[in-house]
Amino acid sequence: MNTFNLELVDITKILDEVKYTLESRLPDFISLEFQTNPNVQDCQVNTDLEQIKMIILELVENSKKSFHGMSSGKIIVEALKKEDNFLVFVKDNGSGISDEIKQKLFVEKIASNNGTGLGLFLCNKILQELNGELTFVDVDTPGSEFMISLPLINK
Ligand SMILES: Nc1ncnc2c1ncn2[C@@H]1O[C@H](COP(=O)(O)OP(=O)(O)OP(=O)(O)O)[C@@H](O)[C@H]1O
Ligand SMILES: [Mg+2]
Repeated sequence: MNTFNLELVDITKILDEVKYTLESRLPDFISLEFQTNPNVQDCQVNTDLEQIKMIILELVENSKKSFHGMSSGKIIVEALKKEDNFLVFVKDNGSGISDEIKQKLFVEKIASNNGTGLGLFLCNKILQELNGELTFVDVDTPGSEFMISLPLINK
């Protein structure tokens, strides 16, 4: 399907480039916090940098859309190493996701008012091809949480 540009990438490079892009992309009413666990320092993944950045940015974009009609919102991007994997969580305190849509996530294109409804479906496919995973994390707190997982090289 896709041809990927695989290379050894420093985790810090992925996070720095995502931060740089997001600085100019979010309106003032949304606060963005990066929580990077020091245990990702010196870690690398064998991946396609542009694809991984695009996937993290798509999750943040979805969070941004979830604040529709709200006067403030918070997005947290948390990165850490767990066992042999690099994990990135994108959490927001936006509208949350209905049970009906939860069941369709990643499985089909979702009918959407403000997008094509293809974002998560494609992100999941691409991550699978890169030996990673995209997961919806069902938490009790208001809002939504997604997790990207990628196998680390130097464990
Ligand atoms: N963080 C989130 N908060 C609330 N709802 C979400 C969130 N992420 C995804 N969703 C829901 O899941 C649906 C599918 O997301 P997806 O990214 O696939 O499509 P989209 O954002 O609507 O369109 P596209 O990404 O193609 O522009 C969204 O339409 C929205 O209903
Ligand atoms: Mg989307």
